Amino acid sequence: MRVDPYERAWMWASAVMIVAFVATIAYGAVTQSYHPPSHVETIDPKQVWSSPSFQPLGVVERADGSIEVRVIAHMFAFQKPEIEVPAGRRVTFRLSSVDVIHGFQIVGTNANTMVMPGYVSEFTTVFEKPGEYLIVCNEYCGLSHHVMHAKLIVTPRAR
Ligand code: CUA
Repeated sequence: MRVDPYERAWMWASAVMIVAFVATIAYGAVTQSYHPPSHVETIDPKQVWSSPSFQPLGVVERADGSIEVRVIAHMFAFQKPEIEVPAGRRVTFRLSSVDVIHGFQIVGTNANTMVMPGYVSEFTTVFEKPGEYLIVCNEYCGLSHHVMHAKLIVTPRAR
């Protein structure tokens, strides 16, 4: 079978790109432990409300000076619905769902994860810009999915 040389070149180019992209992901997964934020630990959905890792809910200061934010997602709200964190500090979000799959997206940032029943989602970020951010559920979770939101307030860094 005859393949046009131009087409053959592009077949090779796209094959090389696919290999390069997969290699990049594999390299990040192995050397930097990159992984999706949604399946960090397992947790019994019935125990989430009383779990020590979610008590108390909301903003907690860790011993190393970083901030931990604990959020429970349920139909159709986030607990807590209002979260206040300082700018310029490491903030680690830990989330779980007590019913169905929800989403947790902080609009205007790259903070975004699925929130799965049975799992703890975790990601760490730093908010540089103070202000109010909208948090939305971006996984369809039922009739009132569209009202499921929360607010993040990033306060200016102390000087
Ligand atoms: Cu929760 Cu959509």
